[in-house]
Amino acid sequence: MTARPDGRRLVVALSGGQKNTLKGAPMSGHGTPIPMTSAKCGPLKGTADVPGDKSISHRSLILGAMAIGETRITGLLEGEDVLDTAKAMRAFGAEVIDHGGGEYSVYGVGTGGFAEPDQVIDCGNSGTGVRLIMGAMATSPITVTFTGDASLNSRPMARVTDPLALFGTQSVGRSGGRLPMTITGAHDPVPVHYTVPVPSAQVKSAVLLAGLNAPGQTIVVEKEATRDHTERMLAGFGADITSEETDEGRVITLTGQPELTPQTIVVPRDPSSAAFPVCAAIITPGSDVLVPGIGLNPTRAGLFTTLRDMRADLTYENERTEGGEPVADLRARFSPDLQGIEVPPERAASMIDEYPVLSVVASFAQGDTVMRGVKELRVKESDRIDAMATGLRANGVTVEDGPDWWTVTGMGHGNVPGGATCASHLDHRIAMSFMVLGMASEKPVSVDDGGPIATSFPIFEPLMASLGAQIRRDNH
Ligand code: S3P
Repeated sequence: MTARPDGRRLVVALSGGQKNTLKGAPMSGHGTPIPMTSAKCGPLKGTADVPGDKSISHRSLILGAMAIGETRITGLLEGEDVLDTAKAMRAFGAEVIDHGGGEYSVYGVGTGGFAEPDQVIDCGNSGTGVRLIMGAMATSPITVTFTGDASLNSRPMARVTDPLALFGTQSVGRSGGRLPMTITGAHDPVPVHYTVPVPSAQVKSAVLLAGLNAPGQTIVVEKEATRDHTERMLAGFGADITSEETDEGRVITLTGQPELTPQTIVVPRDPSSAAFPVCAAIITPGSDVLVPGIGLNPTRAGLFTTLRDMRADLTYENERTEGGEPVADLRARFSPDLQGIEVPPERAASMIDEYPVLSVVASFAQGDTVMRGVKELRVKESDRIDAMATGLRANGVTVEDGPDWWTVTGMGHGNVPGGATCASHLDHRIAMSFMVLGMASEKPVSVDDGGPIATSFPIFEPLMASLGAQIRRDNH
């Protein structure tokens, strides 16, 4: 328990450790819809201990499964996406032990040691899970069938299977290169030299993971730098990997068939989850929220730079390095003078998952916030431009959009009407963004299904409630 500055006592997860003490009520991204409503609340106050980083959690399990011996992980995100990856690693022959409280051991089978699963691999809602696992198995002589939920089964997979085919991998999926899909790994893989045509860390990572079991050097070129957790972690596991900035872009060179050495991994807290309490505090009058231990890898921190450009009161405290990643405690306070800005398109990759909640903050700013170079938002868990534009318009906000851009016209504080129910389209970040909208709009905002929140942020509701948010489930 801790005391709020206003004297009320409430349960708040203690900062400083990696354990979250808040327990979310059971949620399911795969089950019955869970309608939710968020109503205007008083100041948000306290400490928000958000869960571990989703990207790093997936990679810890997958690389742990590709090393021989025990990889020990603390602070693993126990969201549905990551738990689906853990299940998949078991199906490939690795032992994954849950010690409780986000502590896991993975006993891996070695590079190229994956066994053929005797069941379909169901990655649920997770594009990262399925694409990275496809890469990891692509150069082993096994056949694997992948599937997912309705959202994942509608997403493009050719962006991964095209470069994997260069290693000698074969794949058969549904029309448009969609799941369910069966992949037969290369029996005699060759290394590849591949320029990633879209800014995607998932594609880059799939090629690098496939390159692990190919002889010689696999080279990946990316014109725009995307999150580099795979490169950092591969180096940590002892792979020979270099990254060089050139006129062509970032050139990553991996020498295949290393023996990966198991690691101890401390997963930093997820900046993409921190975005929700941070943005909620910025738009809710009187708020002052501390979000400790957030990973600030420059390939991930674009939202926070953007918020500061918009004159948000957001500071970094206690900057440090944890587990090889830069980390700080974020302090977010209500920001009455938010200004709309043109978000630099070259920043897009470093905040790609944060545009939905940024569009909510933009609704409370003065003037237009223009977001360009964001075509990738249309192929996430949902078409995120369409999902947010439709929902914001229904709540009284003016939004214009085109194929790779959108503009939100800010209404200033106290002027956003709210009052509508929005479709979450099986997308956790859409659901959470509309819940944040409801905290500061004049009338409550609802979503048809908050279940998908459990994929990445299973303690979202109790954590936000501990700060003072008013979110309720409508059918309970
Ligand atoms: C991720 C990469 C991004 C991001 C996703 C996580 C990763 O996807 O949107 O949530 O962990 O590699 P893309 O690679 O499609 O940009």
